[in-house]
Amino acid sequence: MASRNILITGGAGFIGSHVVRLFVNKYPDYNIINLDNLTYAGNLANLSDIENAPNYKFVKADIADLDEMRQIIRENKIDGVIHLAAESHVDRSIKDPFVFARTNVMGTLALLQAAKEYWDSLPDKYENKLFYHISTDEVYGALELTNPEGVPAPFTTKASSKDDMAYGTEFFVETTKYNPHSPYSASKASSDHFVRAYHDTYGMPTLVTNCSNNYGPYQFPEKLIPLFINNIRHRKPLPVYGKGENVRDWLFVEDHARAIDLIFHKGKVAETYNIGGFNEWKNIDLIKVVISTVDRLLGNPEGYSQDLITYVTDRPGHDMRYAIDSRKLQKELGWEPSLQFEEGIEKTVKWYLEHEDWLQNVTSGEYQKYYDSMYADR
Ligand code: NAD
Ligand code: DAU
Repeated sequence: MASRNILITGGAGFIGSHVVRLFVNKYPDYNIINLDNLTYAGNLANLSDIENAPNYKFVKADIADLDEMRQIIRENKIDGVIHLAAESHVDRSIKDPFVFARTNVMGTLALLQAAKEYWDSLPDKYENKLFYHISTDEVYGALELTNPEGVPAPFTTKASSKDDMAYGTEFFVETTKYNPHSPYSASKASSDHFVRAYHDTYGMPTLVTNCSNNYGPYQFPEKLIPLFINNIRHRKPLPVYGKGENVRDWLFVEDHARAIDLIFHKGKVAETYNIGGFNEWKNIDLIKVVISTVDRLLGNPEGYSQDLITYVTDRPGHDMRYAIDSRKLQKELGWEPSLQFEEGIEKTVKWYLEHEDWLQNVTSGEYQKYYDSMYADR
């Protein structure tokens, strides 16, 4: 395998850490540069198992700093970018949209421009180069809940269980018109447009994937699943937005990382691929699975933590249903999820219960103080 210098942004975050780990372990001939600004969501402890690998390097930097991006890309002779760094939490975007525009839009633009300038300066220009942008299904907007009780899902994959349900007739396909509703999804939509514009205008080799909700180890406990596992453990209320009827399509994070690996190596330039497991869950049903799994693993009686469910005011502009049609990726590149949802959720709950120290650390903010002092000279 030829050597490559790959810049992975956001590698200290949830999905990024799984992508970095996969690439570092699977491709010893690649140099993997993890670029992350270590915001509240970035945590180098997520990568402690590979931090000393000879093909791994961490760089603390802000993607919105164009000069720094230019320097890092040039110095490391980057030929591939896998861009995950972002502000990623919808509720935060409702409170502070500006940081989402800065990081997700301006940051992506700075990274694109820096890669373009470096690749333009090389004799072989865009040959064997790729700027791969990781995006979300939220850019497509919301689907209707036409089957509120659920009907047998028309498509299945390993990720979906045998009695999996679909809650509507429509699915997001790669050509679905963008219709973002939250400041988060608006900023991601904008960044997707810039990535495609750099291909269409300058011929830069870019590619975009849009994935559904991920779950698994190392997710910051502000997102539904780790937040609720942590709250159940500590007998805290579980804030269910609205009636808990919103539907999300859940994929185990390692299956997303495997898709990213496949698409980075085999995907067609300028294409878009949707990634998802045909695994729709109503929030309230998913929450009940999480509660019963945590209770069982903690040795609590069945139904013990159900009383923690607390219905709260809905998220403003709360998208009703997301459901990804990933058949293009399955047909063209042969990807499929490796893990059934029941196995994935069991693994995930176990991981959080066994990593109480990790949860404590990221919720106390201690790790942030530690890294702030570690990089104070920059
Ligand atoms: P995350 O919030 O866990 O991690 C984001 C990482 O980006 C953190 O390590 C953070 O420190 C870093 N970062 C933030 N601002 C930065 C900046 N200005 N410069 C450098 N680094 C910065 O996010 P995640 O859930 O792992 O999502 C990763 C990517 O995948 C995002 O682009 C997100 O939009 C996309 N995505 C997420 C999901 C999901 O379910 N979590 C689904 C589909 C797509
Ligand atoms: O669809 C992909 C997206 O999934 C990613 O692009 C985002 O980065 C990621 O955060 C996620 O967005 P969601 O808003 O779907 O995820 P979240 O975990 O915040 O919420 C999942 C569902 O649960 C959503 O319908 C809101 C609801 N919810 C969430 C929280 C945090 C609650 O009912 N209570 C809560 O406390």
